Amino acid sequence: MNLAVIGAGYVGLVTATVFAKFGNKVWLVDIDEKKIKDLKKGKIPFYEPGLERLIKKNTAKLFFTTNYKEAIPQTEIIFICVGTPNRNGEVELKYFFSAARSIAKNLKKPAIVVIKSTVPPGINKQIEKIMKKYTKVKFDLASCPEFLREGKALEDTLNPYRVIIGIKRKSVADKLLKLHQKISGKRLVCDTASAQLIKYASNAYLPTKISFANSISVLCDKFGADVNKVMEGMGMDGRIGPDFLSAGLGYGGSCFPKDVAALIRLAKKADYNFEILKAIQKANQVQIDYFLKKIVRLCGGSIRNKKIVVLGLAFKPETSDMREARSIYVIKGLKRRGAKVCACDPVAISEAKKILSGVRFFADPYQALKGAEALLLVTEWKDYRQLDFKKIKRLMKSPVVVDGRNIYNRKRLEKLGFIYEGIGR
Ligand SMILES: NC(=O)c1ccc[n+]([C@@H]2O[C@H](COP(=O)([O-])OP(=O)(O)OC[C@H]3O[C@@H](n4cnc5c(N)ncnc54)[C@H](O)[C@@H]3O)[C@@H](O)[C@H]2O)c1
Repeated sequence: MNLAVIGAGYVGLVTATVFAKFGNKVWLVDIDEKKIKDLKKGKIPFYEPGLERLIKKNTAKLFFTTNYKEAIPQTEIIFICVGTPNRNGEVELKYFFSAARSIAKNLKKPAIVVIKSTVPPGINKQIEKIMKKYTKVKFDLASCPEFLREGKALEDTLNPYRVIIGIKRKSVADKLLKLHQKISGKRLVCDTASAQLIKYASNAYLPTKISFANSISVLCDKFGADVNKVMEGMGMDGRIGPDFLSAGLGYGGSCFPKDVAALIRLAKKADYNFEILKAIQKANQVQIDYFLKKIVRLCGGSIRNKKIVVLGLAFKPETSDMREARSIYVIKGLKRRGAKVCACDPVAISEAKKILSGVRFFADPYQALKGAEALLLVTEWKDYRQLDFKKIKRLMKSPVVVDGRNIYNRKRLEKLGFIYEGIGR
């Protein structure tokens, strides 16, 4: 099949590559000239495990362009995967509308336009109207929201929990079901507004679990309980499930914070006060203050002029994405309190440098930890799970470890002479 994917970001590039792997000819269109130039040279714009290799294997079926004219006329199915970022709590739709206009202007034969970007439920009527201004060619609008997780994007696209297909006409569902044949997971065919709301509801529910676990973690600290055990026990109940119950520093990234904010705003516009979600947002912010207070207490009441080392900058392991990373808020809080901040990450330093100033960056954690007065674990990269703490003990000026993701063994660290605290244990 001839396909086009609009937007060469995390979703678009992965979607295009996976459909090319299954034998389709895929055009990938992006307005970012540098990105397309780099992709043509085989340079991938972000770190995503396995992606570079899969793109290289499928170069014969993948075509990169900034020109809609080259891609759209011959395609049967077009996926819109452009960004829909947060603008003051609202969904910024200018990229999405612009992509829809450009598609319409270049349609030469009937096509299915599939919205993968996360967009407000019910927007299809508006899109249809806009597109009809620019084309007389027949098109169908469908909605297949994307659920991939960065760091596991390929795995999730090939083996998702589910493929949601929002349509108006059954024949469109049949075509999309056929296209997704080689992708595993459950199928749900529904109307387009429901498909779009499934995405928002899912991206609001998962942070709800995280914030709930974090709130319980505060009580665990107060009552001397172990949040890992509490969550393990809760997760044993099939009605609750064990996923997304890890207490820590809260959620970040390009999706959860913006989609929670967007759903609150969408609800407000529909005259509904989504109070649960407001509390989830608040709990997520408060968790950073809770962590900072712990650090100050463990450092003897002040971190002014003290060298503090942050391990992990990316919003989660296995990605270079820094959008809404918890590290940003932790580091800003440390700096406000006068600390000298050093930070490490295996892949996200160049992204972090664009956002954070007044921080010394190190690829090597041991180098960073020389003379440090506290080690803060912020992103649980595999490299940081396997650190040599005997060596670290010799390097640090003061052996304080504050574990924002509860990955270290308290007994072991205490035996080595560290002062250790996690979150809720
Ligand atoms: N990143 C994720 O983990 C993830 C997961 C599920 C859903 N989503 C949703 O998918 C959408 C895309 O997210 P992303 O993270 O891939 O975004 P991204 O910011 O990584 O990439 C978006 C790309 O779209 C391009 N673009 C913008 N306007 C364009 C236009 N008019 N024509 C062509 N290209 C254009 C940009 O240059 C950019 O390369 C968003 O709605 C997001 O909420 C993202």
